[in-house]
Amino acid sequence: MDCLQTRVTKVDFRNPILLASGIWGESGESLARAYAGGAGGVVSKSIGSEPRNGYPNPTIEKLEGWGLLNAMGLPNPGIVSYGEEVRFALSKGVRVIGSVFGGTPEEFAELSRSMEQLGVAAVELNLSCPHAKGYGSEIGADPALLAEVVAAVKAAVHIPVWAKLTPNTQDPAGLAEAAETAGADAISAINTLRAMAIDPVTMRPVLSHISGGLSGPAIKPIGLAFVWRAFERIHIPIVGIGGISRAEDVFEYVLAGASLVEVGTAVADRGAMLFQDLANGLDTLLRERGFTSVSEAVGAAHRK
Ligand code: FUM
Repeated sequence: MDCLQTRVTKVDFRNPILLASGIWGESGESLARAYAGGAGGVVSKSIGSEPRNGYPNPTIEKLEGWGLLNAMGLPNPGIVSYGEEVRFALSKGVRVIGSVFGGTPEEFAELSRSMEQLGVAAVELNLSCPHAKGYGSEIGADPALLAEVVAAVKAAVHIPVWAKLTPNTQDPAGLAEAAETAGADAISAINTLRAMAIDPVTMRPVLSHISGGLSGPAIKPIGLAFVWRAFERIHIPIVGIGGISRAEDVFEYVLAGASLVEVGTAVADRGAMLFQDLANGLDTLLRERGFTSVSEAVGAAHRK
């Protein structure tokens, strides 16, 4: 499937379909499983400086027909312990992107440096978790703060820096511009949408944190619109995320302007082999429409 090989932010991928952060990222073994299933690369769980337990249960709820609602609270073992997992995945030949979250530009920079030392191909900055006090979109929804983080990380590492952006804001494409201006090599869009559910029996919110983030099929049109608008305003590559479960979804994101995509919620349902199915389906769609490479199709829906 030569048609699917692609080079984005100076990193080679055997296909443009990556495992999204937050799903299967706990261990090097599960990252390797996604890669063995056909993913073009994997994004680690978001990792912080210190171990963190996250929120008490319930932290996740399936919303039939909509997707998944979650508020995990960024649980992770901390960068020192997590290093072992990254090293394991890398030892299996997996193309790993390291996801990190911090509360200050300096913390992001330090974590990114650690990821670089571990050998990841690029770092993805979580500037978009919609419900963690002092982290995620509390930083990333402010273009000035976002720019400070990106600039600090760029000054600290040599690997490509991807900024993962939030849709929970008035001007998403403005965030994309701020990331580009600050030196980001790519943006990843979108993280989950702030959302909640109430149990009519208990008459209480279903998540312990009350609100969380919605992922899955319901958010695909929103992710697509973000990618479309960002493509018209920035010149760095876009990694499309949100509601992808079929090859047609991947193709839509590529046509809107995504050079790569990440898949999360559907992997939890369908397992690792989903990646090979998506890759085969994308290959067929590209050839049927007369494209000889993914990059040729990027943004094709914008062309008159
Ligand atoms: O709850 C969580 O750990 C979610 C993180 C995210 O959406 O980035």
